[in-house]
Amino acid sequence: MFRSQVSNAPGWPQFRAAYGVDSFGGDGYFTRAVQNGYNLFYFTPDYGKRFTRKTAADAVHSCSSCHTAEALAYGLVNSDRFDAGLDRRVSFEERVMRCYAGPMDGFIPTLYDPAVRDIRVLARAVAHHLRLSEGARTDGS
Ligand code: HEC
Repeated sequence: MFRSQVSNAPGWPQFRAAYGVDSFGGDGYFTRAVQNGYNLFYFTPDYGKRFTRKTAADAVHSCSSCHTAEALAYGLVNSDRFDAGLDRRVSFEERVMRCYAGPMDGFIPTLYDPAVRDIRVLARAVAHHLRLSEGARTDGS
């Protein structure tokens, strides 16, 4: 599904400025995906409707009620690690899918759904702003 427009949720202009999202281009495909990720992360029941369930706790039922954008970025750069309990590597996407199903008591999107993919793009943009990179650090410290 290709969307050329993403609706403006509250706080987006501030987020966009705070995390320098425009350094990826004012209106490129990447920026729109970041914005969709933002909507999903902060307003999950509205933008991730298909994967959430109505509960009494809906007022706080967004990814952002349990995670910060910074923690999401750290989660991305530290992802794909070996999980001793599961005896295999777990990807960032799988963590996100598990959160839709577990803490959010919802339904699991497929790996290719924008509800998963755009969360990764959001995390990537924030990681870029925080100057985090995957794997070994490259700044010598
Ligand atoms: C009710 C609280 C809660 C909500 C809501 C929630 N999560 Fe989580 N999330 C957790 C907890 C707790 C963990 C740690 C679980 C673990 O490590 O087994 C976690 C782990 C994660 C991780 C892995 C973090 C890491 O450091 O490896 C990611 C990524 C993540 N969540 C993304 C999301 C996204 C995206 C959403 C919204 C779709 C979401 N979460 C909603 C509680 C929540």
